[in-house]
Amino acid sequence: MRLTPTEGTRQLDDYMLGLLAPRDAVLARMESEIEREEVPGIGPHVGQLLALLLTTSGCREVLELGTAIGYSGIWLARGSTGRVTTLETDPARARRARANFAEAGLGDRVDVVQEEAMAYLERGGEPVDAIFNDLLNSFPGEETVDRCFELSLGRLRPGGLLLADNALGRGRVIAGDSRPARNIDRYNRLVAADPHLESVIIPIRDGLSLARLRLM
Ligand SMILES: C[S@@+](CC[C@H](N)C(=O)[O-])C[C@H]1O[C@@H](n2cnc3c(N)ncnc32)[C@H](O)[C@@H]1O
Repeated sequence: MRLTPTEGTRQLDDYMLGLLAPRDAVLARMESEIEREEVPGIGPHVGQLLALLLTTSGCREVLELGTAIGYSGIWLARGSTGRVTTLETDPARARRARANFAEAGLGDRVDVVQEEAMAYLERGGEPVDAIFNDLLNSFPGEETVDRCFELSLGRLRPGGLLLADNALGRGRVIAGDSRPARNIDRYNRLVAADPHLESVIIPIRDGLSLARLRLM
């Protein structure tokens, strides 16, 4: 049987989902809420991948740009050993995320900061081992993408991971016919061209950009 790409992708997604380890009660509840309420969340494939990447690279401190209700933050915290700082402008989402982190037993390791991400980054701060950028669809334009990229590189420890969700922009990144698509394309090109990074886009769900800051 020949499958169209969409059918094939959906069936492969279901197949992979059947092989993922069951999530605990907190993540399972959040997955239902994400589906029912259409709040954003990376889903279990990307979540598992992030946790594995952080664990295998021995990540301690993590910075996340874009919390929503804390779904990805739980995976990030479980893959790392130090503090996770996660930024969210929406006060109701920030409150919900704090409650979810507490229920997951991570309340003492995760700081939900209710602040605009660029304002936070502009102030500078301690270096981190990984940055997960989940704002490529939200940024107002390419200048913000550029500045965010620059500030993120400045915050990463050598050997640290620079990660971003939605690197394939639901396929629209090729046409570049919307603001989010142009933001994503800009980000992907910055990552690919930077000699300090080694990188790849993993075509899982909507694409995960994975880059590592070289040691020298
Ligand atoms: C894609 S969602 C994050 C999803 C989350 N990472 C997850 O997978 O569970 C992006 C979130 O960032 C928030 N946001 C948008 N622009 C922001 C900004 N400039 N600074 C901080 N948060 C922002 C939105 O309110 C939204 O909840």
